[in-house]
Amino acid sequence: MIPLHEPRFDETDEKYVLEALRTSWVSTGGPFIDEFEQKIAEYVGTKHAVSVSNGTVGLQLCLEVLKRKLEITNTFDVIVPNLSFIASANAIIHAGGVPVLIDTERNSLNIDVNLVSEAIEKEYRRSDIDGFYRSKATERVLLAICPVHLMGWTCDMAKLKKLSKNTGIPIIEDSAESLGAFYHNGAHVGQTGLASVFSFNGNKILSTGGGGMVVTNDDYFAKKLKHISTTAKSDNLRFEHDEIGYNFRMVNILAGIGLSQLDKMPSRLERKKEIFELYKGEVSKFSCGKIHQEEHNCSNHWLINIIFQNNNEKERVLKALLMGGIGARPLWTPFHKQPALQDKSFLWSTYDQSEAMWERTLSLPSSPHLTNEQIMNIVKIIKEQF
Ligand SMILES: Cc1ncc(COP(=O)(O)O)c(C=O)c1O
Repeated sequence: MIPLHEPRFDETDEKYVLEALRTSWVSTGGPFIDEFEQKIAEYVGTKHAVSVSNGTVGLQLCLEVLKRKLEITNTFDVIVPNLSFIASANAIIHAGGVPVLIDTERNSLNIDVNLVSEAIEKEYRRSDIDGFYRSKATERVLLAICPVHLMGWTCDMAKLKKLSKNTGIPIIEDSAESLGAFYHNGAHVGQTGLASVFSFNGNKILSTGGGGMVVTNDDYFAKKLKHISTTAKSDNLRFEHDEIGYNFRMVNILAGIGLSQLDKMPSRLERKKEIFELYKGEVSKFSCGKIHQEEHNCSNHWLINIIFQNNNEKERVLKALLMGGIGARPLWTPFHKQPALQDKSFLWSTYDQSEAMWERTLSLPSSPHLTNEQIMNIVKIIKEQF
């Protein structure tokens, strides 16, 4: 079986793990954590990086920090794309909010920023008293916009940033899949929003098994996030806690793996680009689907996707690939169709574009260590279905 996306570890990763074990720094404190945070902040180009136990809780914590800062005690709304892995919506619900689902742009995997503007204009009213945008229907505060850079392709952050500046609504970027990707303006993902969250899950480009990182340029945000992610302890000796916190920090063993994996990012990104170009070139030789590419964008090519004319073609190819031992995967079911989100999210407008992408798209194996021969075999199986 060729998996969709597989992590790979070597002796360097093992050395870090051994050192953590031998020095007994195994838990949520230790030198590797501090160093990994510092190195990720340098890599992304932000002032701060705070490690967390996974991307989902990283997103949840960001919303918690915002809630506490703005003294929001009731439930609230958060704008999120309709097409993403369910963690993007779960984190909002875990933090006590309601995901407001926005369709994707036409032929894109990412949120339609024009629709975000439209939703704010039609559904919310700015309060003259506190400046919050409140829902005309429910009075809920619109706490944040959480765009997702899906599959490593970045959203139109220039447009979103302008919207955020005009409205004062903060952006929390779900960059879980996008370490090593760049915005249209050439800056590394994670520099635009108030905060941005990466995941180091087993299937990501940099994997620590499980883990995540929140990056930000905001001093208050970083300090508060670190505080509430480590039980909000205000007196280390007497274990006094000044607010309700969480145990959401990364552990030192995993941060060690992160350090070792970070060194491999340049070669991984290079190979991923080669794989993307090979798929693209080979698929373009016959008329059955197209390798997905977003405009003006520098993706990390986390997962490489092929778009077919319709659902039937996609399903036919998926079946053939699975029978051939190829771990291709259809896109996640969009949020407006997710049973778990039915009474927990706010459906706004229609979802024609995300539904069309969902019906036509397959993610192809994209591990950086795939061989050209394996890729040619995958393409051959696709080709045989037409
Ligand atoms: C878009 C997106 N958001 C959030 C997450 C959550 O990250 P984690 O698995 O580290 O909790 C993931 C994936 O894992 C993801 O793909």
